[in-house]
Amino acid sequence: MKVAVIGSGTMGHGIAQLAAMAGCDVSINDVSEELLNRAVERIRWSLSKMNEGGKLKENADSIMSRIRVNVSLNDVLNGVSVMFEAVPETLDLKLRLFRVADELAPHDSLLATNTSSIPITEIAEVVQQPERVIGMHFFNPPQLMPLVEIVRGKKTSDNYVNKAVDISKQFGKEAVLVNRDVPGFIVNRVLARLMNTSCVLVTHGATTIESIDSALKYRLGFPMGAFELADYSGIDVFYLVFQAMKERGFMMHECPLFEEKYKRGELGIKTGLGFYKYPEAGKYHRAVISTEAGTNVDLAMLVSSAINEAIWLVREGVSEPRDIDRATKLGLGYPQGILEIGNKIGMQKIMNALNSLRELTSWDEYEPDSLLQEIVLSGAKLT
Ligand code: 3HC
Repeated sequence: MKVAVIGSGTMGHGIAQLAAMAGCDVSINDVSEELLNRAVERIRWSLSKMNEGGKLKENADSIMSRIRVNVSLNDVLNGVSVMFEAVPETLDLKLRLFRVADELAPHDSLLATNTSSIPITEIAEVVQQPERVIGMHFFNPPQLMPLVEIVRGKKTSDNYVNKAVDISKQFGKEAVLVNRDVPGFIVNRVLARLMNTSCVLVTHGATTIESIDSALKYRLGFPMGAFELADYSGIDVFYLVFQAMKERGFMMHECPLFEEKYKRGELGIKTGLGFYKYPEAGKYHRAVISTEAGTNVDLAMLVSSAINEAIWLVREGVSEPRDIDRATKLGLGYPQGILEIGNKIGMQKIMNALNSLRELTSWDEYEPDSLLQEIVLSGAKLT
């Protein structure tokens, strides 16, 4: 299968690597040779790490031999079966690219976007056959996170949905279907709530960044704390994703910490400074977080808005409880799904915590969802 990946950043280079590991011939496109060379370096690093961990079925050089880079869109789109778009999260840029892809890629090829937040239907509007436009949302690092959210636009056909599911399987991933392309889909909506509430608890003086991260890691078993994850994937990435979601009706009073960091250019690991400080900009390094710091953090307060969001997704028919739990486990590495965590803590406690957050902030987004209220009244469980 001939594959084009447009955009060679964190997600683009990872998707290209997955495609090459699955045996596809891959061409990566970006606006400069320098960016493309950096992508190749990152793929080499990742392959050597995977090789050390015994995760490769083939040697790294033969995988690399299936990867080409090219600054010409015309060349990379010629004769492809699938295009993955992974350019920055700007609607104009994506629309421009999809118009070109519509012209240059074969008419039966699948046009997939890795957008984190922009509805697929908006992107598909500029394509003559919108049935072939789909969201295939990977998670950072794409090489290691097992989830792909498959997001249908209003006009995406079953045929292309099935194709996207097959490709995810070929790439060794698990697909979760998102029935409606609400901004942020499943995982980023849940994560936006968790990150924003973490931030609210810090700015209201209830706790510290390290305490929040320690509680998430060592008491809930998450692979990374909320601030640690922001640093890891890029504070700019989350800031822009949250803006795009808000512009499309996601109700969230953004806590100022993310914006301050974004404006100061303190973006996390990539700049050497974010919520934590790192020894070398751009080099994978884990923040040091003490195990004891999170002992007194109120877990119900911390996760309540993420659970409320998951319940909203169920009530709105965006996804099933089981798939939401699968998505949060596979996309974020949680040991239990977000709804399972809610059941474990107790939905009554979750509702009380939301009411406290609402009192603290006066923000309507903390109002317990009507389905949560029903669950608490009836004692039923979402499964
Ligand atoms: N390729 C290959 N290997 C990699 C890698 C990559 N891209 N990144 C890290 N590794 C390696 C590390 O170098 C390390 O190898 P070593 O032991 O030889 O040094 C190994 O993987 C394991 O790393 P660590 O021991 O540091 O850490 P973990 O066991 O915690 O695993 C992790 C790392 C998989 C990143 C894990 O911490 C995790 O799951 N974190 C959560 C990530 C997450 O939530 N992602 C989703 C973000 S949201 C998103 O992407 C959506 C978007 O739209 C915003």
